[in-house]
Amino acid sequence: MKGISNLLVAEHAEVREVMRSLDQSGLRIVLVVDAKGILRGVVTDGDLRRALLAGATLDDPAFKVMNRAFVALHAETPRDEVEMHLSNRISLVPLVDDNGIPIDVVVHNRRHYIPAAEPLFEGNELNYVIDCVESGWISSQGAYIRRFESLFADYCGVQDAVAVANGTVALHLALRSLGVGVGDEVLVPDLTFAASINAILHAGATPVIVDVLPDTLTIDPAAVESAISPRTKAIMPVHLYGQMCHMDALCNLAQRHGLLMVEDAAEALGSREGGRHAGTFGDAGTFSFFGNKLITTGEGGMLLFRDPAVASRARMLRDHGMDPQRRYWHIEVGYNYRMTNLQAAVGLAQLEHIDALLAAKLRLAARYRIGLSGLEPLIELPTTRQGTLHSYWNFPVLLMSTVDQRVRDDLMQRLREAGVDPRPLFHPLHEMPPYRDLHRQGECPVSSSVSRRGFTLPSSPKVTDAEADYICGTIRRELDRQNWREQIKTGAGGCSA
Ligand SMILES: Cc1ncc(COP(=O)(O)O)c(C=O)c1O
Repeated sequence: MKGISNLLVAEHAEVREVMRSLDQSGLRIVLVVDAKGILRGVVTDGDLRRALLAGATLDDPAFKVMNRAFVALHAETPRDEVEMHLSNRISLVPLVDDNGIPIDVVVHNRRHYIPAAEPLFEGNELNYVIDCVESGWISSQGAYIRRFESLFADYCGVQDAVAVANGTVALHLALRSLGVGVGDEVLVPDLTFAASINAILHAGATPVIVDVLPDTLTIDPAAVESAISPRTKAIMPVHLYGQMCHMDALCNLAQRHGLLMVEDAAEALGSREGGRHAGTFGDAGTFSFFGNKLITTGEGGMLLFRDPAVASRARMLRDHGMDPQRRYWHIEVGYNYRMTNLQAAVGLAQLEHIDALLAAKLRLAARYRIGLSGLEPLIELPTTRQGTLHSYWNFPVLLMSTVDQRVRDDLMQRLREAGVDPRPLFHPLHEMPPYRDLHRQGECPVSSSVSRRGFTLPSSPKVTDAEADYICGTIRRELDRQNWREQIKTGAGGCSA
């Protein structure tokens, strides 16, 4: 019954009560029940309008305005059959038990497939792209690049930003511009997307893999401290899934040991600690605008630098190392890491409504939190560290630590069958072939553990409340159906410690 009590109105309640419930339900329909709780009718906005026009008053009882010719199905009706009843006319089907008491509803506005991520283009994206095409400025020169860089810098509260082709080259360019290369060690978390470590390797430096913290999934400052050697040149904290790393501790370490810091904020645009944006704490901060990110340019990235001289060097290296004062005169071996005007046009339009996009992510995270509440300790929900704003680029969920990976994989498969696209957490870097033989600090038990029992939920700003509720309901149902609660508690079914 949880979740539909706000849709129920007693048949003798006044019409004004019906209106109040309609207002609060958010579904534009209420279910009218008799004294035994049996469903007797429904009232939609339209029913109410028609009844009032026909002379009903606010003092009338609900049964006078309700529609008795409604569709309701038994709760065990197969899903496909229920969906067949939904149409533009019927947007909601109540599900009732053997006694006719409503126990759930199926809503039309839920899609059949809820992807892991999808972009939302609700602003000037198309207008700006048309402008690029009509003006012919489609490559890496054109007004949108500077406008995008400038608005991005403003948003993050810094002087300057450098747009590049994607978030991976942003990391590489950051390291190159700061002079990190052969012979230098860079500390990187074991739990991250491979781009972080690949960029270090491409720069010719030596990655040293460090474990993460179990609650935030971000790099463990104590492990960083233990891993510092005379060859350590930089730390690369990764604000995973939008969660801020422990920046106080990390900045302190960097300062004490004279280390550079390159923040991988690919997943953390909008995240803040003490009001300060992710990517603005280190010597450099990098961002990604891949299609699944908070704002997207298709492919794209951005760099912030503490030192304007390093930013200038990055601009030069971004453009094949060409002297900015002398065309075709190259002062260093650089790269083509430029962003196109077309990408920047989309990025600018996206950035113009970043507050709404971020608000949608935060709303979705809050909805997931409510929908999954009470499942602890079976399920661990992400923490939000005090004093930080977690942008919830993604909402990672962990099954409890005694769970075998197969339980997680089964649950993800069930979600897929229900039309939901969850994603596993990243694999620990140290377990994958290219990185197995690299240095690491200890065995990284935390990242190995969380990686095999974690998954992320669909994170698009397009996910509606009804869809989030459906996802959470599916997780709850599957946990119950498979008796996983017991299995998880006892460690049965192949569960390991
Ligand atoms: C943590 C992290 N770093 C770097 C990147 C690389 O960004 P891009 O895909 O734009 O190259 C990503 C991309 O998803 C990422 O998640």
